[in-house]
Order: sequence, then C-alpha cells, then structure tokens
Amino acid sequence: MAASENPRDRAVQHMFNRIARRYDLLNRVISFRLDNRWRKQAIQSIWTADNPLILDLGTGTGDLTFSALKWSPTGKPVGRNPEQEPRAKAGARVEGATGGGRIVGLDFSLEMLKLAQTKSRSLPHGEQTHFVLGSALVAPFRDAVFDGVMSAFVLRNVSDLALFFSQAFRVLRPGGRIVTLDMFPPSTGLFAKFYGLYFYRLVPWIGALLARDRDAYQYLSESVRTFHSPMMVAKILKQTGFEHIRWRKFLCGSVCMHVAERPNSSGIPA
Ligand SMILES: C[S@@+](CC[C@H](N)C(=O)[O-])C[C@H]1O[C@@H](n2cnc3c(N)ncnc32)[C@H](O)[C@@H]1O
Repeated sequence: MAASENPRDRAVQHMFNRIARRYDLLNRVISFRLDNRWRKQAIQSIWTADNPLILDLGTGTGDLTFSALKWSPTGKPVGRNPEQEPRAKAGARVEGATGGGRIVGLDFSLEMLKLAQTKSRSLPHGEQTHFVLGSALVAPFRDAVFDGVMSAFVLRNVSDLALFFSQAFRVLRPGGRIVTLDMFPPSTGLFAKFYGLYFYRLVPWIGALLARDRDAYQYLSESVRTFHSPMMVAKILKQTGFEHIRWRKFLCGSVCMHVAERPNSSGIPA
C-alpha cells in the first residue's frame, strides 16, 4: 500500500515496518513505562459517551487502543448485564472493562498492524477492536462517524499536521473530541540537560543495540528535537476548526497532551 506520494511519509512507513517486531520492547525500555499514565488520562478525556466509536490514528501495535479497553471511564463490562454485576457502579473503573465502546485503529504500517491484530485475538474484549490499513492523511472513513479520535506519538511523524487534524475533524461527529499525546523538546533547566543527554545521545544507541536499527532511533530523537512547540500544535488545531483547545504538560514538558472539540453544529459544545 502506498503511504502517499510524499517521500517523508513513505520513509516513515518503511521505518515502522522495519522496526515493528522490536517496537514494543524498545518503547518499554525507552519510556520506563511512564507512558501508561499519560495514555490513561488521554483515554479518559475523550471517552465522554456510553458505547462510543473511537478512532486511534497511527495505532501502531495497538497500545492506545488496548489501553482504552482497560481504562475506559464508564466501566461497564462488555457482554454482561450490569444488573447482574452489582459491584460495577456507574462511573467506577472495572478492570478489563470497555465501557461498551468499539475502537478502530488505523495505521499505514502493515507490520505494526499485524502485531496489533495478533494481540487483539488474545486479549479480553479484543473483538471490540478493529484494525484498518491506511494513511491518516486520507483517512478511509465517512464524515462525522466517530465519537472520539485519539492518537499517541504520531504527530511528529506526519508530513502535514494541518491535513492530519483536518482528517480527524472531518471524521469526528460534531461535539466529539480529539486527544493527542506526543513528545516535545522539554523546557530549559536541569531536566532539559538530562533529557538531551538521554534522548538525543543515548536513545539512538539503545535502538542500535536492541532493535539493531540506529537510524530509526536517531530519527526518533531528531523528530522530537525539531518538532513544533505545544503552543504551535494548539494553533494548528484552532486553524483546523477545533475549539476548547487545552493542553497539559507531563515530565517537564517533554510530553504533552492536547484535547480539543469539534464544534456542535448548533455552536453549543458537547
Ligand atoms: C511512534 S508509533 C506510535 C504507535 C502507537 N500510537 C503507540 O502509542 O505506541 C507511530 C505510528 O504512527 C504510524 N503513522 C505515522 N504516520 C502515519 C500516517 N500518515 N498514517 C497512518 N499511520 C501513520 C506509524 O506507522 C507508527 O505505527
């Protein structure tokens, strides 16, 4: 499948196909599993309705999609009658609950998607997930079909961020929310120095060692170093038509979560 005519997208697609088998391991090692906390917050910020249909753009091996199965805030065990589940109070988190929603994961890397598909077969409620091969820049979905759109660690990789957000806007129902997580160059100070040393110097070596692909992890470092500021990302969201844009920084600004809403046709936010 062609990613697009854009050479940068094609290079990114090939790179993720190449590193797919080692991606999860490297992710855990590099992030010290801190990403789980941020993923949970991201999911809870868009899971605003019962039984939502959610799109995960750039799902990769499905981490965010499967986290959503675990951490949806509505806490209704799927396939069971809540009447028969006295401990499952509305709003309470139930381990393994899905809130009754369905999640569609889109990615243009076939190798990443194959791993997501394999995981979905072995996870509880995995049948509530669906994986689609395609580019987020020409998302193969009808307008206004999703209740929420989420995306983790993808923004830095796309060749045209405005187009990425406009596709998300198009497929979201009016009043629906988008949430994104990504890495940014951290603010100045001691942490920024430590981060520079770790992320820009050490991470490419870890990539060389564990994934045997230094170039890919050099690219990862560079993509953070040269990425926009959180303020700029918010500006692009606004230009795309989103409203109620807010963002939250984690780990001294090295990770940032943006949340925004597609306006209701009535002009009244959901
Ligand atoms: C760093 S990984 C993140 C994967 C996953 N979201 C996570 O949180 O672990 C980035 C993913 O975005 C995908 N990607 C990048 N640009 C894309 C695009 N234009 N369309 C579809 N997928 C894209 C890559 O193939 C890769 O799987």
